[in-house]
Amino acid sequence: MTRSLDFGAAFYPEHWPESEWPRDIALMRAAGVTVARLGEFAWSTLEPDEGRYDFAWLDRALDLLAAAGIVSVLGTPTAAPPAWLTQRYPDTLATVDAQGHRDAHGARCHYCVNSPLYHEKSAAIAGAMAEHFGKRPDVIGWQIDNEYNRVCYCATCRAKFQSFVQARFGDLATVNRRWATAYWSQTYQSWDQIAPPAHAVSNPGLVLAWREFVTESYRLFQHEQVTAIRAHVAPEVWITHNFMKWFDAFDHYEMSAELDLASWDWYEPSGWTDRIPSGAMHDLVRGYKRRNFWLMETQPGHVNWSRTNIDLQPGQARAWAWHAIGHGADAVLYWQWRMALNGQEQMHGSLVDQAGEPRPFYAEAQAVGGELAQAREALAGTRVQARVAVLYDFPSRWLIDNQRHHGDFDYVEHLLRAYRALAGRNFTVDVISPDVDLAGYGVVIAPALALFTPERVARLTQFAQHGHLVLGPRTGSRDSAAALWPERPPAGLHALAGCEVEEYIALAEPVRIEGDVSGQADVWAERLKVRAPEAQVLARYSAGNAWLAGQPAIVRRDTTGGSVTTLGGQFDTPTLEIALAPLLALAGIAPVLETPPGVEALRRVGEEGQDVVIVINHTATPQTIPAPAGRVDELTGAATTGALTLGAFGVAVLSAA
Ligand code: GAL
Repeated sequence: MTRSLDFGAAFYPEHWPESEWPRDIALMRAAGVTVARLGEFAWSTLEPDEGRYDFAWLDRALDLLAAAGIVSVLGTPTAAPPAWLTQRYPDTLATVDAQGHRDAHGARCHYCVNSPLYHEKSAAIAGAMAEHFGKRPDVIGWQIDNEYNRVCYCATCRAKFQSFVQARFGDLATVNRRWATAYWSQTYQSWDQIAPPAHAVSNPGLVLAWREFVTESYRLFQHEQVTAIRAHVAPEVWITHNFMKWFDAFDHYEMSAELDLASWDWYEPSGWTDRIPSGAMHDLVRGYKRRNFWLMETQPGHVNWSRTNIDLQPGQARAWAWHAIGHGADAVLYWQWRMALNGQEQMHGSLVDQAGEPRPFYAEAQAVGGELAQAREALAGTRVQARVAVLYDFPSRWLIDNQRHHGDFDYVEHLLRAYRALAGRNFTVDVISPDVDLAGYGVVIAPALALFTPERVARLTQFAQHGHLVLGPRTGSRDSAAALWPERPPAGLHALAGCEVEEYIALAEPVRIEGDVSGQADVWAERLKVRAPEAQVLARYSAGNAWLAGQPAIVRRDTTGGSVTTLGGQFDTPTLEIALAPLLALAGIAPVLETPPGVEALRRVGEEGQDVVIVINHTATPQTIPAPAGRVDELTGAATTGALTLGAFGVAVLSAA
């Protein structure tokens, strides 16, 4: 049977004497834990010296877990190279900046992602672990490394970067032309003159190529471990990596291509008050592979790595877990089960404390574990289905961050404005790459999609024949080498959009817009020029910025079966709600439920079309909403009647009765 709604924690038996393990595992069982994640930092215990493996302790821990009915996910330990390795092979240590400073042993992720020796050692430990543990039926999945994050600038990386640029562009004349290197005498005469970007603002072509190179470096590093593991495990055993929140050092879509499952680690060190960014992050991770994902780590109360590490409020863990599941998570795992007595993370939250006693959070987790068990069957095989997509693009983010033009123009914040206008009203949203098939969507929004390729232009053009396309500001200005397209944005789409951008303005003050859509732009505004007589100006800028006054701010042009709406400004969410409402209506897209702002309604749909609606009160105040008719709450067994009341951080999981 397909697994459904797994629940668990990261468990580090190597931190504790074996005599402690049975008690930990008994508490796991009592909390409803179905899965433990182990091994991802245990290199010095798994391979105490070069080539000498000790897997027996991990077998014993896995045996105890399996006997308690708990399956396991094994991490390869390559985020924590042991002292013998970095001492014997200092070249495996990363060079942490373009000025050449080398990392020191003593933390984690201190490796050079391109070191041939580190590749060899990593593939060897991954392969040895897979050979040893790969046939165990209780090991259902593997995680490669842990939160890739270090970028290295050593001589090896630099040489590989030069080869990467050569393979990408073929000859130096092409590099010089496409990066416009005559500007500031950047002209390259030989490949070895090309160095990683080292300045606050570097040549955009160089910046883009470097990020693509970092992506390719991690992809190859990951690929070697994936290959080493696949050789030994059954086809249904999956391989994942746990990505971080809004992390942008590499392209996560590319990194996910070879993985079977996407997963991520969700933390909110300053407390959690806004469901929109976390909802968008869940949706983005679901978009990495366009299927359900795992929440591989989340916060058991508080973290330890922020300046002030605020706890979740009592009860909030429940809303948190269902929020992830409603957005497509098939598992929720806390980090961590029990903290080590020493080490950098002594102060982190956990379910069990140094004495082996349940902490107060344990009871919260136990309640969540119980609820997941109750809803497990109803949610088996279900997934999120959206007819609205927001396009999230790593290269566009890199290019904008390299030249924000207005310091407050933040790619993620900008995207969240559109996302909030939808998800804030319980529209189900996909957050996906601009390079995937858009068939099936009714509305597609491209916020700040700076990078246009001919393929992207073709895909968006095709979509707009039957769907409603919305182009945000800064869209369609750069090519695949980060050069400006030698025409006005949105390059390649003027005819379709019926307009072009004639100027962009960093706004000192917000400006109002008036027309069919009234509202406000801040930070960024573009003065649009209408190019097609049939295009409609939906809004014009009012007085406030002399360059903008009276000029088109929103233009829409209808196609045979769809439309293109060009948004000239960074609008606030209420303005975007007004702009998007008619498009959603035309596409026949409705929200899951209408709820007050603190209440979220999400839907997962099964293969037979049966759906489960998850309603979450994200506030500490009870909320009452009109109950959807003909439903039964999987958590209480109660049938819905006229009103549905949710207590503080309360949840209802509603199946068809
Ligand atoms: C994550 C990491 C875990 C743990 C956790 C603490 O970023 O993957 O190993 O350190 O943070 O919050």
